[in-house]
Amino acid sequence: MKTPEKKIELDETEARKPSEQEQQQFLQQIQPKLTVMKENFNLLVIGKKGYGKTSWIRGFLANKQRVLFVDSMQYEYTEDDGLILHTYDELVRWFIEHRNDERQVFRIVCRFSREDIMKLLVLWSKLERTTLVVEEIDMYNEDEIALLVEHGDRGRHNENNLIGITRHPVEVDAQMRKHVDCIVSFQQDDVNTLSYLEKINKDEAKRLPALHKGEVVVLTGFEYLKAYYERDDEAKQNDTNRS
Ligand SMILES: Nc1ncnc2c1ncn2[C@@H]1O[C@H](COP(=O)(O)OP(=O)(O)OP(=O)(O)O)[C@@H](O)[C@H]1O
Ligand SMILES: [Mg+2]
Repeated sequence: MKTPEKKIELDETEARKPSEQEQQQFLQQIQPKLTVMKENFNLLVIGKKGYGKTSWIRGFLANKQRVLFVDSMQYEYTEDDGLILHTYDELVRWFIEHRNDERQVFRIVCRFSREDIMKLLVLWSKLERTTLVVEEIDMYNEDEIALLVEHGDRGRHNENNLIGITRHPVEVDAQMRKHVDCIVSFQQDDVNTLSYLEKINKDEAKRLPALHKGEVVVLTGFEYLKAYYERDDEAKQNDTNRS
């Protein structure tokens, strides 16, 4: 059983806090826009069951060109989200078959075994500009998170991105928490979780219990989200140039 780390290592973002209005405007804008990340960052999306984490991720990534969803436990993603594959071998075959595709666009839902998820991490680190979404990131043990973080770091220069999603942020392995640049939170009412989050951002954490379904607060790393949002999508520009 893991014990929660006491030390919070996430809050480097005191420099300039966005106003609530800025955050709201930005979050409203996210849904319809097309962007591709040109910088790497690791995002943690947290919040109570059923308050809209997965739905928000769908909107946030709606127009991303390359996404791998790791969805092995609850099967939250469907054919509408991407191509559903069940093994690492299927994924490798898919990449081999599509290796000559000019645009290299893919959205794949990986309902893999734990062993295959670990293999997937190696492949991910070799891809470029690929967002890896890991649902229920609190369920991975120290060794698994170590691999995730290691391959995330290797992929940084490829502009890969990692998004972890969880209902239980306090139970996320400390190595992952250390590597998180940005936290977005939905409703929270668990006392321990709230006291943990207050150490990251006291003012914003106080708002969490009163949030309604679909409402979100950026606890840290607003500038990363904003950069992500504002950057032009090279693939989109290429498409525009072609047409
Ligand atoms: N912005 C929103 N406004 C209203 N309803 C929403 C909103 N976002 C999500 N919902 C609805 O709330 C329900 C739960 O949403 P979702 O699956 O995204 O939650 P979740 O936080 O991912 O839950 P879980 O922890 O179980 O994975 C869905 O039926 C969804 O349609
Ligand atoms: Mg969900």
